[in-house]
Amino acid sequence: MTDFSTIYKLSLVAVIYLVQACSSSCPVLECWFVQEKAGRGGGLTAATSQEKSLLYIRTDTHRQTAESQTAPSDINPDRVYFVTDPAGTLCQPSLNPPKGSIEKPQCEINPFLPQPSTLKWVAPLTESALSPLYLQADWFSTSHQDFKKEMIISTITRAPPATKEHNVILSVTSKTLSVKSRLGEPVLLDCGFWVDPSSPLSGSGFAVEWRYQFRGDGRLVLAYDGKADRLADKQEEGATLDFEGLHTKGNASLILQEAKVHHSGMYICTVYLPYLVAQVAMELEIVEPPSLSIHPSPLPLMVPGKTLTVQCEASGFAPLPLELSWEFKGADGKSRPLGSGSVTGHRQAWDGTYSQSTRLELDTTTLDLGRGGEVSCVAVHPGGTQRASVTLNVIGFSTPSIEDSMAMVGVALVLYGLIKFVSWTFTGSGPDEADKQDKKDK
Ligand SMILES: *[C@@H]1O[C@H](CO)[C@@H](O)[C@H](O)[C@H]1NC(C)=O
Repeated sequence: MTDFSTIYKLSLVAVIYLVQACSSSCPVLECWFVQEKAGRGGGLTAATSQEKSLLYIRTDTHRQTAESQTAPSDINPDRVYFVTDPAGTLCQPSLNPPKGSIEKPQCEINPFLPQPSTLKWVAPLTESALSPLYLQADWFSTSHQDFKKEMIISTITRAPPATKEHNVILSVTSKTLSVKSRLGEPVLLDCGFWVDPSSPLSGSGFAVEWRYQFRGDGRLVLAYDGKADRLADKQEEGATLDFEGLHTKGNASLILQEAKVHHSGMYICTVYLPYLVAQVAMELEIVEPPSLSIHPSPLPLMVPGKTLTVQCEASGFAPLPLELSWEFKGADGKSRPLGSGSVTGHRQAWDGTYSQSTRLELDTTTLDLGRGGEVSCVAVHPGGTQRASVTLNVIGFSTPSIEDSMAMVGVALVLYGLIKFVSWTFTGSGPDEADKQDKKDK
């Protein structure tokens, strides 16, 4: 028991050190400060201005940032902010790339205006009037993408008026910026959120909304009012949340039970607090390689001088395009391309998958097919390269090879032996008998 508690204490110490080590690696983020240009309203497209800014991230207000706080000369000192993120969401190593790395994390910061939402599943959050005094502050929304392009973080920060000391009040994160899935598999689109427990906005409920967007076409996938624990009526079939994880850990990940072709597109996870909102967008692509079949199979024997038509059908793939081609592997074991054949247009099946085929004319007068070999249909697709093959035999080939000649000699010997054996059996017990018979006849 004492051993156990010692181990327990030691691991606790280790964890604390680890947490401290992590918190000390909070980055200084270069960020674009983007806002609408003041005094130039009226146009349809609001003019925006863009300025370089710097965010010093830390997990603890009392912990002063170790870096010398002199900003680079190209950054306006007014655009240098100190952001306290107690959850350490912005202290991800991937937001802090190794020096000299070409890929840079992306960051944008905008002024944010807290306001109540009229959406049916969000409106209940602001039913009771909240301390408006708390809202009278400087609010920013930030959006970060790591340099590996795997993760996206959006935050809402608050600074008491006229200070540059921001606190993260809400952060929404996705670790699946781009998801690829095979058809029929369950899909998890990651989305998690954190709310500052010391904020008066925490504990008064939240709402989660998932929207789908594809080529200007949008629809609601799922909306959940966390205050009333109620899902909106309109909801896509097979889409769900882990409600327990949502309430206990802020796990708002969307689960699609079975990937279908029409699920490909952009998904936006939006988390609402009273007056606040933050969202992250991610891309889902359903990628299914084709199944190939060759007709006719097996191929009939090929007669020199006559053409033989082979067809290859690729079906059940998504998305477009597909690249179809033919290959021939002769007796020498070397593969040669035979071109793409005549490729048909694609057709779409009821489930959204595509099919396409190609036809190849095999002709011994234009192609050196030798005694035959292997004819393959090759389909190059983002889901993987697929291949199907059939054996081609050419008959009546003029010059037999050594193997053929030896086989012929072998066959001739066997036949000779067989004929001999049969003649012995039918004419008596052997050559002696035959001799006796001859003598009798004489
Ligand atoms: C969120 O919930 C899903 C579904 O239960 C689970 O697979 C995933 O691991 C959870 N994510 C986190 C960060 O806990």
